[in-house]
Amino acid sequence: MGDSAKLQASGKDYEFPVLSGSVGPEVIDIRKLYGQTGKFTYDPGFTSTASCESAITYIDGDEGVLLHRGYPIGQLAEDSSFMETSYLLLNGELPSPQELADFTRTISRHTMLHEQLATFYRGFRRDAHPMAIMCGVVGALSAFYHDSTDIADPQHRKISSHRLIAKMPTIAAMAYKYSVGQPFVYPDNSLSYTGNFLRMTFGVPAEPYVVNPVVEKALDRIFILHADHEQNASTSTVRLAGSSGANPFACIAAGIACLWGPAHGGANEAALNMLHEIGTPDRIPHYIERAKDKNDPFRLMGFGHRVYKNYDPRATVMQKTVREVFEALKVNDPVFEVALRLEEMALNDPYFIEKKLFPNVDFYSGVILSAIGFPTTMFTALFALARTVGWVAQWNEMISDPNQKIGRPRQLYTGATQRNYVPLDKR
Ligand code: CMC
Repeated sequence: MGDSAKLQASGKDYEFPVLSGSVGPEVIDIRKLYGQTGKFTYDPGFTSTASCESAITYIDGDEGVLLHRGYPIGQLAEDSSFMETSYLLLNGELPSPQELADFTRTISRHTMLHEQLATFYRGFRRDAHPMAIMCGVVGALSAFYHDSTDIADPQHRKISSHRLIAKMPTIAAMAYKYSVGQPFVYPDNSLSYTGNFLRMTFGVPAEPYVVNPVVEKALDRIFILHADHEQNASTSTVRLAGSSGANPFACIAAGIACLWGPAHGGANEAALNMLHEIGTPDRIPHYIERAKDKNDPFRLMGFGHRVYKNYDPRATVMQKTVREVFEALKVNDPVFEVALRLEEMALNDPYFIEKKLFPNVDFYSGVILSAIGFPTTMFTALFALARTVGWVAQWNEMISDPNQKIGRPRQLYTGATQRNYVPLDKR
């Protein structure tokens, strides 16, 4: 037996095993804590709790490290593709050329939606938020595709996973098309995953659409950067929903619902709005002072992270990508200059240094997406599209885990103790 942790409670001594992962902090195995001590642990927000064992993604927030299956995110963003990274997340190893070609072909064969699903869109108001539509349509997929819903069957899980990854761009693009009143554009499987999404979003049936390779590469990279991020809120939601044996499409709809929140997927929109509000570099000092003022609720959006207490490695790649996209599209938006100057000034300010506040992935992603032409409401939908592969990889891992149980946290109850019901006429 390895190391153990001792606990003294109510005058008695207890010992619990300490488990080691391949890298990262050890964990105290408290599965027998309640049985042995009659006590629970209290950890709102799970800041100190490992909810599962996982071999997919590793983050060292102090060092600014993010690894997928051991590979650094910077290398994947630079040299890989979203399809290859998806294969890696799902299967654990990088594919051979043949495996990658087969996987890409399989995904492209699933890009079409059941035609009946188009009628769901027409039930939404034209001004519906794309995330509301995505939640509804992805949940509705569970009423289709009955041939692959036996979650105990690995082959069924694989088909559902492929369908989800393949259909997400079609669903997101249709949400956009519906909002602008243009006809839906069917997938063209001769294009790449990302090129196809760009065409379905910005193409129209009246004209041929030519994919800009720089934009295609930049967006593919953004998808890689958002593909997975270990046990974040939406991934934990997918795992929790899936732990009851729920339909896979319904589980992913639950993840989309969680991601929609401004504290999770919505921050890039807030960061872009803030940069626009600042407007010119001379106004930056004023906003930095506001962010430091305890009596002002204003925070620098796109700065700080629950886990990263160092430069978010995804932000480094984003900054480089902004330059490429701006040059390719000949964009001359002062917002990028404001972002660069703001970053520089904040990183030299004692407040931000002392609190270890660095730019996160959202600081630059809104700037790029907006330059490509996406409206701000689509930003979170793009995040959901990319994160789907992480969600399904984690969902699959959970279901294959022999230690998997239905998720059922406990609580510290502080409400009324038992009392007798008082009839209405006596109150
Ligand atoms: N601007 C100014 N001060 C800040 C900021 C900021 N962006 N972020 C944190 N602080 C201060 C905060 O006031 C607190 O100060 P003090 O200790 O004096 O009370 C200290 O830093 C620690 O902050 P915290 O809120 O306790 O840290 P947290 O780990 O709970 O919060 C966060 C992390 C991301 C919610 C927060 O940094 C924040 O609100 N950032 C802006 C929103 C944002 O960019 N969110 C995107 C996160 S990345 C998306 C993803 O990976 O899914």
